[in-house]
Amino acid sequence: MEEKFKILGIVGSLRAQSYNKALMRAAIEMAPAGVEIETVDLEGIPMYNQDLENQPLEKVIDLKARIGAADAILIATPEYNYSIPGVLKNAIDCASRPYGDNALANKAVAVMGASIGMSGTARAQYHLRQCFVFLGCFALNQPEVMVSFAQDKFDGDGRLTDQHARENIRKLLEGLVAWTKRLASSQ
Ligand code: FNR
Repeated sequence: MEEKFKILGIVGSLRAQSYNKALMRAAIEMAPAGVEIETVDLEGIPMYNQDLENQPLEKVIDLKARIGAADAILIATPEYNYSIPGVLKNAIDCASRPYGDNALANKAVAVMGASIGMSGTARAQYHLRQCFVFLGCFALNQPEVMVSFAQDKFDGDGRLTDQHARENIRKLLEGLVAWTKRLASSQ
């Protein structure tokens, strides 16, 4: 049996009714044949402290191991105050250290996001892409999945009902798989 292509989904919101958790569920539901998306819960990741980075807690060890084992990463993030939520930025900081042991280095990464405002997390996504430069991630450029006015795009059960957004997520997942394979073949 052919091995599945493994995507690790990371959501930058801890909120139970999070639109971004719902966006990730939509991606899981739409995963192409042969692709498996598992998610990691950022609840309980400690605040990064460089004094303690050589004695990481189990949560951080697990996060780094799961990033390492994944073929690619998919991030769904809200925008907080025009930027990346602290929960997500902190998890990225933890996963990137200690120096020389950056779990995200050379990883293929795709980004999507939902917000209740009109920018659909554009500013958070561009800040995240800036972090990828230092992290050495290979970000998929397009499509950009920015779900604005999220309150109108999901039903009462948290299912993404907006067809344009669904189509964009489908293209994002296909693009991420193709991008990862292209990177692997060029190494
Ligand atoms: C927000 N929200 C928000 N929305 C936006 O479009 N741009 C922004 O800069 C912010 N800033 C912001 C800061 C903080 C601290 C909070 C709590 C919220 C609103 C945000 O889009 C909304 O709360 C989403 O529902 C958050 O995503 P989840 O939790 O539903 O995934």
